[in-house]
Formats: sequence, structure tokens, C-alpha cells
Amino acid sequence: MTAEGKMYTQEVLLDREVIAKRVVELGKEISVDYRGKKPLLVGILKGSFIFMADLVRHISVPLACDFLRLSSYHHDRSTGVVRMDFDMTQPVTGKDVLLVEDIVDTGNTLRYLLQHMDAKKPASLSVCSFLYKEVGSGVKEKIDYLGFTVPNRYVIGYGLDSEGLYRSLPHVGALKE
Ligand code: PRP
Repeated sequence: MTAEGKMYTQEVLLDREVIAKRVVELGKEISVDYRGKKPLLVGILKGSFIFMADLVRHISVPLACDFLRLSSYHHDRSTGVVRMDFDMTQPVTGKDVLLVEDIVDTGNTLRYLLQHMDAKKPASLSVCSFLYKEVGSGVKEKIDYLGFTVPNRYVIGYGLDSEGLYRSLPHVGALKE
């Protein structure tokens, strides 16, 4: 969907209090599951930066952070081709890796990521996604920690953008025609 030439109003789907509460819950869940381990959290840029920053502050086990940058959307549409803009900077072999995504939509990015990370031979590989969009991508079972399921709308805020904008909104909204 492109906003070009159209008027969109924004509808709040998840307000900041609801998000904050869920992030605390996810942090606790991850802390329990990774007790005795030192996971490496890998944030997928750009969208995950706000979720990642909030999430790590609610995880009580010692952890390391790294990032990689993928993109597949152009003018708010999935191109279906996932592009690696830059990879992470440390080896993951033998590490407990937790991928941190802002949203799983068509599932193309997650499929690519799992293949890419698997090849690096981590000790374990799990996925935490802030949002999951119900579009029948067939990858829901690959998400180990999920914040919220959202309807099939174009969502923005809390890291998610429309043509580079709105990532800074504290809530998640839907663009509405
Ligand atoms: C978004 C989002 C996910 C991906 C999910 O990234 O951050 O990585 O799309 O979509 P999919 O399930 O349809 O593959 P985008 O390519 O928009 O880059 P960004 O994170 O920099 O916004």
C-alpha cells in the first residue's frame, strides 16, 4: 500500500501501556527459558530497534546483542526478494541465538533468516517477534515468542514504518484509507 495521492488516518491498534505489559511478560518468559545461558540476541534492522531496546531491559540473564539488516519492502510493498544490507559482526557458532523481529508478515524474511542463521551453526536458534500478521504465511509455528497477532492491515509505529516514517510512534497504529 502506498500513501501517495491518498488520505490516510491512523487507528490505534496497540497502545503503549498494552505494549509495555506484553514486553515485560516476554522478557520474563525468555529469562526463564534461558536460565543458566548467555543468549545472543540478534535484532533485525531497522524495524526491531525499539522492541529490542525495550525487550533486553526485561531479560534478567546475561546476554549479548548484535544486529543485521535485511530489507524486502519497497514503497510499502513486499518485493518478495530479501536483501542483506549488512550481516552481524560476531560468530554465532555454538551460541544460543534469539532472533528479534518487529513483524512477520509474508514470512519471506523469516524463512531467509532461519536458513541464513542455521548455516552459521548456532547451539540453538529461536525467534521472538513483536507482531505476527494473519496472512497465512505458514511460519507462525516458527515463532517461539510472540508479542501480538495483528489483522491484515498496514501497521506502523513502535519501530514499524511507512516509507521510512512513523517508526517513532509509541503505539502501533493501522493506516486506514
Ligand atoms: C519488515 C520487517 C520484517 C519484514 C517482515 O522489514 O521489519 O523484517 O518486513 O515482512 P515479511 O514477513 O513479509 O518478509 P522491511 O523490509 O520493511 O525493512 P525495515 O525493517 O528496515 O523496515
